[in-house]
Amino acid sequence: MNARRVTFASKIGVIAAAAGSAVGLGNIWRFPSQTADGGGAIFILVYIGCILFFGIPLMVSEFVIGRSSRANTAGAFHKLSPGTPWKWVGRLGVLTGFIILGFYMVVCGWTLDYLMQSVTGNLQGIEDFSSNFTSLLCNPLRQILWMILFAFLTAFFILSGVKKGIEQSAKIMMPMLFLLLIILAVRAIMLDGASGGLTFLFKPNLDHVKPTVFLDAMGQAFFSLSIGMGCMITYGSYFDNRINFTRTAMQVATLDTLVAILAGIIIFPAAFALTANPATIVDELVAGGPGLLFITIPELFNQMHASSLWASLFFFLLALAAITSTISLMEVVTVYLHEEYNLSRRKSTLLVTAGVMILGVISSLSSSFFNILDISSAKFMLPIGGLFISLFVGWHLDQKLVYAELTNQGTIKIAIGFLKIYTFLLRFIVPPAIVAIFIYGLMA
Ligand code: PHE
Repeated sequence: MNARRVTFASKIGVIAAAAGSAVGLGNIWRFPSQTADGGGAIFILVYIGCILFFGIPLMVSEFVIGRSSRANTAGAFHKLSPGTPWKWVGRLGVLTGFIILGFYMVVCGWTLDYLMQSVTGNLQGIEDFSSNFTSLLCNPLRQILWMILFAFLTAFFILSGVKKGIEQSAKIMMPMLFLLLIILAVRAIMLDGASGGLTFLFKPNLDHVKPTVFLDAMGQAFFSLSIGMGCMITYGSYFDNRINFTRTAMQVATLDTLVAILAGIIIFPAAFALTANPATIVDELVAGGPGLLFITIPELFNQMHASSLWASLFFFLLALAAITSTISLMEVVTVYLHEEYNLSRRKSTLLVTAGVMILGVISSLSSSFFNILDISSAKFMLPIGGLFISLFVGWHLDQKLVYAELTNQGTIKIAIGFLKIYTFLLRFIVPPAIVAIFIYGLMA
């Protein structure tokens, strides 16, 4: 099987694919609403701490597991530690990916709906953006149709193969999205009254903080970096032997965090500047929850010339950022079925697509179901997966293998230094910190 397994074609392709998985609705839709909920600047500080201390070492660990086994997420644990229960960590990851798809796909559908509204010019001149979004939420059929379309699009990319489908699209679209976000951020900051939003984002204020801030920020960090469920194990299994794991993980984490912060710099200044009641804006932001992106951003476009054009471009690129993430999620579940149950790639893809659609329909019909999938996967399943991955690489795996993978057989000298830091973090910091955050978050 090893010899036949495909690898990504180039270094830039590797970064594009991994960053394509990481950068998605998690950054632009989920991060702002979590930040609003978590009280702004303090949430962001904790979030960045989680990226540095958990995110990067865990992403590297997943790469190690993936490339050294060259197998799907569950197969990887089985291969590296045959006959032990570790394969359940991989199976948990596959299940987590499936559950994430079950609500994520619905939000992907929303982006298509908004893309349509932008292209047709319907988004222009709307008075009340909040009720415009609510009318979408109150129309399950509309949501379901867009969600199904998005699931089919993802399946199409999965079927068109690893290199062509994933790599090519990510390589072109990611930089475009980045550029557009910068333009929007500049526009948002220039609005009258935008400074309140920047203060909320960057000036820590203990009044807004909730006791669950650690659990929320940790969940968001795992979700945003696509770690804790084996997505980076599967992608790592496609890396060739020259890829430098530390550098790749740092690049992906930096890009991912920049995109999230940029999304914040667009949404918060715009929300503060455009609100009718500045006194209650923070409460409004918290109450806005998942709608924040779909309410504030169209409102910002309304302030710009050629608003339909900007909005169309934005929602198009957002849908692309989303699809590079849904591809990575679906890939995890698909190769698992393909390799573990001997189903053809085609059959596995169709099976996963059908399953995701069923979850997606239920999530469209019930916001509580949607929230259960969101919270259970991001706040619980991913960190639990991360906990076991850190234990596996830090304590269980043969450290000679970890050394060889991290340093590319001793050829990357600087990685030897990193190895010491990782081992320390993976053994003594990550596992107890995750457990402590759980206990604290659940008691709060
Ligand atoms: N990281 C993706 C995002 O931020 C979501 C995702 C989570 C993708 C887990 C793969 C695995 O949108």
